[in-house]
Amino acid sequence: MNFHRRSVSVTIGVLLIVVLCFCWKIFGSYGAISTELPRNVSAIKAAGAGAPVIRWDNYEEFVRDIDFENSTAVFNSIRAALRQSPSDIHPVGVSYFPAVIPKGTLMYHAGSKVPTTFEWLAMDHEFSYSFGLRSPSYGRKSLERRRGRPGNGTHGDRPKGTPPNEHDRSSQIMLTYRAVRDLNKFLYLDGASAAKTDSGEMDTQLMLSNVIKKKLNLPDDDENGRMAERLYASRICKWGKPLGLDGIIRVEVGFEVILCDFAADNVELVSNIEMVYPNQYLGLPSPTVISKEEGWPLDEDGKLLEDHLTDDQKAILEREDGWEQVLSGFNAAKSFNWLRAGAAHDHGEHRIHLDYRHFVSGINRTYITPDPNNRRLLSDGMTWEKQLEMVNDLEKVLEVGFDATQSMDWQLALDELVTKFAPLLKSISNILNTDGDINESVAINTTALTLNFCLRFEATTNTSDQFGTGKNFALYQYVSPYQDLKTDADFLIWSSTVKVVREIVDVIYQVNELLVPEVHSILRDNKTSSDLAEHVGTARSAVDDLIESLGWIELNYRCERQCNWDEVCYTPSWGPSPMGMTDPGSHDGGFGTHFDESRQRLVIDSDLQCISVNNLLANHKF
Ligand SMILES: *[C@@H]1O[C@H](CO)[C@@H](O)[C@H](O)[C@H]1NC(C)=O
Ligand SMILES: *[C@@H]1O[C@H](CO)[C@@H](O)[C@H](O)[C@H]1NC(C)=O
Ligand SMILES: *[C@@H]1O[C@H](CO)[C@@H](O)[C@H](O)[C@H]1NC(C)=O
Ligand SMILES: *[C@@H]1O[C@H](CO)[C@@H](O)[C@H](O)[C@H]1NC(C)=O
Ligand SMILES: *[C@@H]1O[C@H](CO)[C@@H](O)[C@H](O)[C@H]1NC(C)=O
Ligand SMILES: *[C@@H]1O[C@H](CO)[C@@H](O)[C@H](O)[C@H]1NC(C)=O
Ligand SMILES: *[C@@H]1O[C@H](CO)[C@@H](O)[C@H](O)[C@H]1NC(C)=O
Repeated sequence: MNFHRRSVSVTIGVLLIVVLCFCWKIFGSYGAISTELPRNVSAIKAAGAGAPVIRWDNYEEFVRDIDFENSTAVFNSIRAALRQSPSDIHPVGVSYFPAVIPKGTLMYHAGSKVPTTFEWLAMDHEFSYSFGLRSPSYGRKSLERRRGRPGNGTHGDRPKGTPPNEHDRSSQIMLTYRAVRDLNKFLYLDGASAAKTDSGEMDTQLMLSNVIKKKLNLPDDDENGRMAERLYASRICKWGKPLGLDGIIRVEVGFEVILCDFAADNVELVSNIEMVYPNQYLGLPSPTVISKEEGWPLDEDGKLLEDHLTDDQKAILEREDGWEQVLSGFNAAKSFNWLRAGAAHDHGEHRIHLDYRHFVSGINRTYITPDPNNRRLLSDGMTWEKQLEMVNDLEKVLEVGFDATQSMDWQLALDELVTKFAPLLKSISNILNTDGDINESVAINTTALTLNFCLRFEATTNTSDQFGTGKNFALYQYVSPYQDLKTDADFLIWSSTVKVVREIVDVIYQVNELLVPEVHSILRDNKTSSDLAEHVGTARSAVDDLIESLGWIELNYRCERQCNWDEVCYTPSWGPSPMGMTDPGSHDGGFGTHFDESRQRLVIDSDLQCISVNNLLANHKF
């Protein structure tokens, strides 16, 4: 027993010295490492044909300068890319991602005619079908106006704010297109980029549109009543034509493409189905027109005067209200399918591939508030010169064309980091935030996690400098790229990753150093030091501040429970949706959102809720 205790204490003593030595070494050189330029650039260039060989003992030489806030912004933008829920939770995008839609991919459009100019294509048929099929209402329901944010039609094929009339419905068609080659010149705009808001979600489009107008000397046609985003699209496509731009990709509920040119060799029409309405299919007559002209008792506002109905009118309403009840169930299911199709991409729209080598972002060009709910690409610092620079960068990358297979899959790499670190950080935080007494079990339980982390990288004896050890080596293990870093964008993303992981590793080591001495004294003297509470407090702030500043969606947003089969874990969105259109600037929060005073906008609740068709029926907005 005695012997055992002594050997434990000796081992821990040695360990402590090793850990402390190491940390001194790192802290001593930390500042120099992160700002120093490569020591011998020609040696680096000679080492690999174009791409440097990044090893455990030289990687820090290649890390470019970037602050932690810019790093988390890059990190979190990459993780949210092409993901439905994260794009709505972090709605204000400030980046352009080069994207490829592979040959053979199917895309959909519902409308009144086969497009001849640029048009919107949905990646999900549920999305197009729900947009295109605007079933008429029967009975009393036919008098209600569809609610939603007032505004113009957005997809050219969908009147918004008003129920469709017979004319709209007469010739709706559902089209399916197939990519006949790799469409390798798309720009994907991140965040809730189809939100039709003025709180920044549309800035990537607005900036392109403004710069293009000037560059191509286009007329001032914002005033002629066209939808803003239709104008943006027309300008972007005009600008992109000589560059071979296929179009842009945005998120609404599900991802959508604005394809610039249907006449080119890019897509073929594989299906053209005239849409059949459930009421027609079931053989019902058209809804009775309830109007003054037809002899119905309506007041000034078009409200039905129930007391003045004739018996015949009452009978008609009763019959049609019954039909409406059945049909609105069908309609709600149709809309719910659209929501489900959107949520199916919470973890990614995997048919679209990103080539991160040519990522063009506003991040690290000027100060951009780190809060993805409250930032803007077109902030004060984004001068006209900087905007021109960004558009020039986009032109340069479009000349090359994209090939996702040549790119490091950064999202995969960063997902791996979050999958590992998020539970570790939350577990440590939970122990340090215990409701009970701050006693030795806090130190023991915490170091069970942190010591196991640090010891993976600490050698007990110095074998030689031939192999990596220690905190810097820990960092390398997590950030070692598995494809050559070729472009400035690669280095931007990689440097951001290094910065983020460095912060995490530092905090884990810091917590370990604070609490290992406590464990040591428990084992040696059967008691903790008088500093225990203070050390736990310091460790707690370090971990909780880190969790806060990382801004990882996983650390803050969760579904309330495992949803049933007929439910979906619902993340509110900012564009047109079956749940209605939520204006971020309004105080009247839609389902699952609340108004955030400090940001002066609606944000998404951190408890995501399961919803079913019943929520749509109650909502009446679909
Ligand atoms: C840099 O590296 C090259 C290639 O290894 C070598 O020839 C040169 O002497 C080095 N220069 C310095 C200043 O160390
Ligand atoms: C569309 O919006 C413009 C300007 O915002 C407006 O002038 C026009 O009347 C609107 N059109 C419809 C059909 O609401
Ligand atoms: C990001 O980088 C830019 C340019 O280097 C800098 O001006 C800005 O202060 C940095 N931080 C943030 C949060 O934007
Ligand atoms: C530490 O872990 C033990 C064993 O799992 C548990 O009983 C105890 O409550 C934990 N203490 C704290 C503060 O987490
Ligand atoms: C480790 O040992 C090697 C010789 O084996 C020596 O060159 C090196 O300086 C030592 N490193 C430290 C940190 O003591
Ligand atoms: C970030 O911007 C600064 C200039 O403001 C530049 O020196 C640095 O290399 C950039 N970092 C990355 C990773 O591109
Ligand atoms: C450690 O101290 C506690 C009281 O603080 C005592 O109950 C326990 O027996 C001691 N353990 C040993 C191994 O001395």
